[in-house]
Amino acid sequence: MQYKRILLKLSGEALMGERQYGIDPKRLSEYAKEIKEVIAKGIEVAIVIGGGNIFRGVAGAANGMDRVQGDHMGMLATCINGLALQSALEDEGVYTRLQTALEIKEIAEPYIKRRAIRHLEKGRVVIFGAGTGNPYFTTDTAAVLRAIEIDADAILKGTRVDGVYNEDPEKNKDAIKFDTITFKEVIEKGLKVMDMTAFTLSEENKLPIIVFDMNTNGNLLKLVSGEKIGTIVDN
Ligand code: GTP
Repeated sequence: MQYKRILLKLSGEALMGERQYGIDPKRLSEYAKEIKEVIAKGIEVAIVIGGGNIFRGVAGAANGMDRVQGDHMGMLATCINGLALQSALEDEGVYTRLQTALEIKEIAEPYIKRRAIRHLEKGRVVIFGAGTGNPYFTTDTAAVLRAIEIDADAILKGTRVDGVYNEDPEKNKDAIKFDTITFKEVIEKGLKVMDMTAFTLSEENKLPIIVFDMNTNGNLLKLVSGEKIGTIVDN
């Protein structure tokens, strides 16, 4: 196996599947099955999930809502997704723990780094909810932060696009995909992998980012097994 411990970043929007809003149970169950395959290989899996399928603080602010208020709503949205994912994983027989950056003790453990690591060592999937617990930070930043804290080997950013391209592949079908690219090149070429806060945090801490298509069955397992899937962003 290529990796021992991974931080998987899942987009909230991807959970919508074909829907316009909310959670598609079929997509959720597909994700749970993919994660189960990886756990079965003895890989430790931590997950950060976005909340964009339910609420985005930035979108709220664009419509005149207070940004901090909106971001708090977004953090709660990630907890809803975390609970849904926890439930789907448990349906597959995978042991999980949900830890949140904001305390909601009745429904999840508070985030405690050492405890999260012990859970991972015991083969449990740890889902981190509520982002970083701070407004103005994205769940990509939360993913990088948690990945560094738990000493993950890499951050696997599951998207609907199969890697990093020189242009938007959804707009230009001749766009060229990179198999590997450095952090510096991403900045020089003005490419978008993550927001800059998340991206520079990853670069400074030498944490590789792998962007890959999470919606193709089997991709996650192939990736952790060492197959060249997606784009690796590294130093
Ligand atoms: P070990 O120490 O390895 O046995 O881990 P554990 O998570 O099983 O330990 P513990 O006995 O502390 O937790 C038992 C269950 O309670 C697990 O499902 C935890 O997720 C849950 N749990 C622990 N702390 C909290 C909390 O603060 N809030 C909520 N809602 N659940 C908690």
